[in-house]
Amino acid sequence: QGGATVSITVVGASGDLAKKKIFPALFALFYEDCLPEHFTVFGYARSKMSDEELRNMISLTLTCRIDQRENCSDKMEKFLKRCFYHSGQYNSEEGFSELDRKLKEKESGKVPNRLFYLSIPPNLFVDVVRSASRTASSQDGWTRFIVEKPFGRDSESSGELTRSLKKYLAEEQIFRIDHYLGKELVENLSVLRFSNLVFEPLWSRNYIRNVQLIFSEDFGTEGRGGYFDNYGIIRDIMQNHLLQILALFAMETPVSLDAEDIRNEKVKVLRSMRKLRLEDVVVGQYKGHAKGGKTYPAYVDDPTVPAGSLTPTFAAAALFIDNARWDGVPFLMKAGKALHTRRAEIRVQFRRVPGNLYRRRSSGTELDKAANELVLRVQPDEAIYLKINNKVPGLGMRLDSSELNLLYSERYRGEIPDAYERLLLDAIEGERRLFIRSDELDAAWAIFTPVLRELEGRRVAPELYPYGSRGPVGAHYLAANYNVRWGDIS
Ligand code: BG6
Repeated sequence: QGGATVSITVVGASGDLAKKKIFPALFALFYEDCLPEHFTVFGYARSKMSDEELRNMISLTLTCRIDQRENCSDKMEKFLKRCFYHSGQYNSEEGFSELDRKLKEKESGKVPNRLFYLSIPPNLFVDVVRSASRTASSQDGWTRFIVEKPFGRDSESSGELTRSLKKYLAEEQIFRIDHYLGKELVENLSVLRFSNLVFEPLWSRNYIRNVQLIFSEDFGTEGRGGYFDNYGIIRDIMQNHLLQILALFAMETPVSLDAEDIRNEKVKVLRSMRKLRLEDVVVGQYKGHAKGGKTYPAYVDDPTVPAGSLTPTFAAAALFIDNARWDGVPFLMKAGKALHTRRAEIRVQFRRVPGNLYRRRSSGTELDKAANELVLRVQPDEAIYLKINNKVPGLGMRLDSSELNLLYSERYRGEIPDAYERLLLDAIEGERRLFIRSDELDAAWAIFTPVLRELEGRRVAPELYPYGSRGPVGAHYLAANYNVRWGDIS
């Protein structure tokens, strides 16, 4: 960085995301010596707080990668010394010009590079950007803004937000985060596909029968109902996290690994997708449930959720890509809260071997158990495994569905960095590959907006499922319409 400095301002410093993810990720980067030599971290929020109070607040959530690693407390102390706080309103130019003054002081004449992380509700984005970009516009260094979903509720409101931000910022200054893109296994998706001869040629309708993108959490909205009820699971998980994975999975080979080349291919595949139809969606909502002497609340029992809410906490959907590679292949998505387990995975079900010798014996009994299935388990316990048919050792001829299993915890030492670490580092380094470009966002909304409108316009009642269950049975019928079984259930 030479004579340059980087200031990272976390706007909304006392919020949950900042405390749980952003400050710890910044510290982890510092710990690994990934931050530039000259950096400062500022917290900005409305509440009054001293630098010391901010440091105390942050220090409660910082952890070193592996417990009791050497230098941990020493490093923490050094990091906290670089953290400061400024209190101000989000729509106040005065607040941001005072911040600017403090930033300049810390920058002490070096080329100032500034990163603002807007960890605040989106209705405040434009106010902050207007105030903060004004002071920064006259500088030599770069100024970048990280924003995180929700980016609107549909095509129109998202387009509106983009246009408002672009009044003050160039597209290159906007870093739209989708934290799933920072997850190790999601990054690995392209490596797996493009650098392994055994997979790349199979990546099409010729060999793949269906693809499943599954997200489940074993807890409900618990206090986040106020936010969640406005959006629902389709906007919270499917339109962004799962669709981003789908785009990476299904895109054509990019010209290079450059951000623009990759994002061009993602946009192309998103634009080839059919708009989701109402008959290809199942929605659900969790209801209260008593199990093992414990009672679990219904979604509508959450005090922050309006009574009688129809907001889905579960959805399953069948999506299609109308291009030569994927014509007719169902991409099934399933996302839900308050289910029996916490898991995110990508499952690729291959076709059966044509004329398979082991499919049937003369007696008519089937020998092979199943078609091949490739699973990328994004979390927990990151793993990649491939289900194959294998002969059970012995004198007879019996086949078994077995697994070639790459379990990360066995194969690789060390902890896997949190998604926010990678994304923050990329934003500092100006690497845009894992951030969402505005045309990608438009294409993503175009797929979901019509069905969201129909669901909400017709007030479609979600199918109730018990807290802690596997979700509504409707999801099975949806898959069955396409002759598919969910791989996480069978
Ligand atoms: C967020 C959603 O984007 O992702 C939350 O708003 C969800 O509802 C969270 O709980 C899940 O993230 P992760 O990384 O814990 O799987």
